[in-house]
Amino acid sequence: MTNQLIVSGMRPTGKLHLGHYLGVIQNWVELQHKYDSYFFVADWHALTTKYDKTEDLRGDTLEVVMDWLASGIDPDKSTIYVQSHVPEIAELNIYLGMVTPQNWVERDPTLKDMAKILRTKEGQNSQISYGLMGYPVLMSADIMMMNANAVPVGIDQVAHIEITRDIARRFNNIYNTEFFNEPQPILNKCSLICGLDGNKMGKSFHNDIKISDTAEDTAKKVMTAITDRSRMRRTDLGHPDECEVAFKYWEIFGSEEEISNTRSECEKGERGCADCKRQLGKKINDTLCEIREKRRYYETHLDEVKDILAEGDKKARKRAMEVIEQVRDLVRMY
Ligand code: TRP
Ligand code: SF4
Repeated sequence: MTNQLIVSGMRPTGKLHLGHYLGVIQNWVELQHKYDSYFFVADWHALTTKYDKTEDLRGDTLEVVMDWLASGIDPDKSTIYVQSHVPEIAELNIYLGMVTPQNWVERDPTLKDMAKILRTKEGQNSQISYGLMGYPVLMSADIMMMNANAVPVGIDQVAHIEITRDIARRFNNIYNTEFFNEPQPILNKCSLICGLDGNKMGKSFHNDIKISDTAEDTAKKVMTAITDRSRMRRTDLGHPDECEVAFKYWEIFGSEEEISNTRSECEKGERGCADCKRQLGKKINDTLCEIREKRRYYETHLDEVKDILAEGDKKARKRAMEVIEQVRDLVRMY
């Protein structure tokens, strides 16, 4: 343990997919051995776009936590909590909002993308709410609440971490302190996994494999993966590098030997795509087997999951209360 602290979060989008697992969670699992680690479900952030669709919020929060636990986030090593159970974050959000210039949040590229998506969604209220505008400030509050040194995230979140550093620096300048760390992003080395159709993997694109999918469903889904589009018959010579999805998955899940066998059999026309994907499905299922078993355990022991969260909430609040005391003092609140 280096005494360095990391914090990261995910919105409660429901059951997570392999993009989350390979892109973010696996990284957290590794880092939890080296850092004092805090991981939370960003349920307030979910409200920034879905304040009018909250019927699944509670269930989705538990789904996300079950996927984390199944994937190897260890509650004895990491503090796992729910954002809205740490009300000090909301208070810090107020102080940080005061010192953040409006044009900093208006410039936020991720926010611009979200606003665009909101506008193009038919029938959706196209207004950008005050809460959504505050997304980057609230995220800074999440991170600074624990006075984190670093934040493990996907590349899409790096702009947010930059705003957090700017806000931390500005707070320190204004209140003549060095209290807040300027947190660094920690990017994962993992490969980005695309969806079954070759586009970005995403729940709303219906091209994802969930951590919690059954082996049967996974096998069926893998059979729909895009292959080398120029290949018609199994005896046609294949081009693994132009096999848009299936071979890429092999490169992620296969051993060196399996990858090179697949390549050579494909190139020589000795392996048909259907066979290839049948083997691939099996390989992916073997990789996920243990995780899925663990997930089923938690699904049938929900009380344990809730206990873990309650424990995490308590630990996170303890840290948050220490930090907020300092902040009130620095701002010179009564
Ligand atoms: N914005 C992040 C996402 O969409 C979730 C998030 C909220 C987060 N607060 C955070 C991530 C703080 C890291 C640190 O995935
Ligand atoms: Fe892709 Fe396998 Fe078909 Fe080759 S045999 S094109 S690697 S699915």
